Amino acid sequence: MIRRSILILYSLPNPFLPDGSVDIFGPKSVLLRLQAVKEALQTRGYAIKTLRMEKELSPMVGKILRSGADLIFNLCEEFHGQTRMEMNVAALLELLYIPFTGSSALVLGLSQDKGKTKFILAHYGIPTPPFVIWPPGEKVSTSRLRKPLFVKPLREDASLGIGNDAIARNSFSLRANVDRIHRLHHQPALVEEYIEGRELNVSILGNEAPQVLPISEIDFSTLPKGLPKICGYAAKWVENSPEFHHTIPLCPASLPLKLEKRVREVALQAYRAMECRDYGRVDIRLSPEGIPYVLEVNANPDISPDAGMTRSAKAAGLAYPEMIGRIAELAWARARSSKFLPEDTAHES
Ligand SMILES: Nc1ncnc2c1ncn2[C@@H]1O[C@H](COP(=O)(O)OP(=O)(O)OP(=O)(O)O)[C@@H](O)[C@H]1O
Ligand SMILES: [Mg+2]
Repeated sequence: MIRRSILILYSLPNPFLPDGSVDIFGPKSVLLRLQAVKEALQTRGYAIKTLRMEKELSPMVGKILRSGADLIFNLCEEFHGQTRMEMNVAALLELLYIPFTGSSALVLGLSQDKGKTKFILAHYGIPTPPFVIWPPGEKVSTSRLRKPLFVKPLREDASLGIGNDAIARNSFSLRANVDRIHRLHHQPALVEEYIEGRELNVSILGNEAPQVLPISEIDFSTLPKGLPKICGYAAKWVENSPEFHHTIPLCPASLPLKLEKRVREVALQAYRAMECRDYGRVDIRLSPEGIPYVLEVNANPDISPDAGMTRSAKAAGLAYPEMIGRIAELAWARARSSKFLPEDTAHES
């Protein structure tokens, strides 16, 4: 019996944040996730190798090909510290014809651009907050949007560039926020209507018949007065901050049955509209009128042991090694069914 072998390909983030300060959280979380995924796959009986994606491409290609891996577990969120090149790593794997976990290069690129995502969602009639895109150096009118507004970088994730002042209640704070994003992030700002309401994360596993996992909610009820009810940078990363301690994930979220069904339906539509593969997470704000507004679709979302996706999987009865194993198996089955692999390269376990 030949054990299937998996190469975990990972990348380290840019050591500096856009404001020039050292990123003390990013690299640590990548290494913890790498270790956890490695142990999970070993538990499932796979032979595991790991490889860090580096800038010099020819030796990288050689190392990937020589690894002889049956599958690549793609944990790369950037290339040479640049998150906008996350898609390029997947594109390289596509060119090498090696099956890999998660979404295609195209989908990674599209979902990283929140504006492009929203155009696609809107095309399918999936609710998403009304918005405008404000590129650097341009004059843009936001008059058709209902205040307050929410301002964030068009192409970042992990709440980079989302501080407590991201909610703009007047034109002065709107301008200040947009200018800051142009200056620090060198990209357009996405200005959208702020959706007051519950924050829900819907994680999904699968391809032809995707499984919508139990909905997770961020409970803001204990946040000290004056702090906005959002999951910004501090809430996600700054461990000794009140934002971190008082944005509490609850899973499963308690929702009336009909509303829960609607949220799950909208999330699944968004996952399908974006053509996510294997696993994904849809971030939603539920308006007081009960409309689930999709904020963004995360293709290849965080799968650390403490991530939202893991929490939802656990609530569905999937322990961590099972969730990680399932992602690998989904990728494997997908590759075989699409005739991605010549039959004789597939090792039977
Ligand atoms: N239009 C909005 N209305 C209300 N809150 C919003 C809106 N847009 C963003 N937020 C808040 O900001 C958070 C981060 O926004 P978003 O999910 O779009 O960014 P991200 O950086 O890609 O996050 P992630 O860490 O999930 O990748 C949301 O979880 C939510 O709390
Ligand atoms: Mg999000």
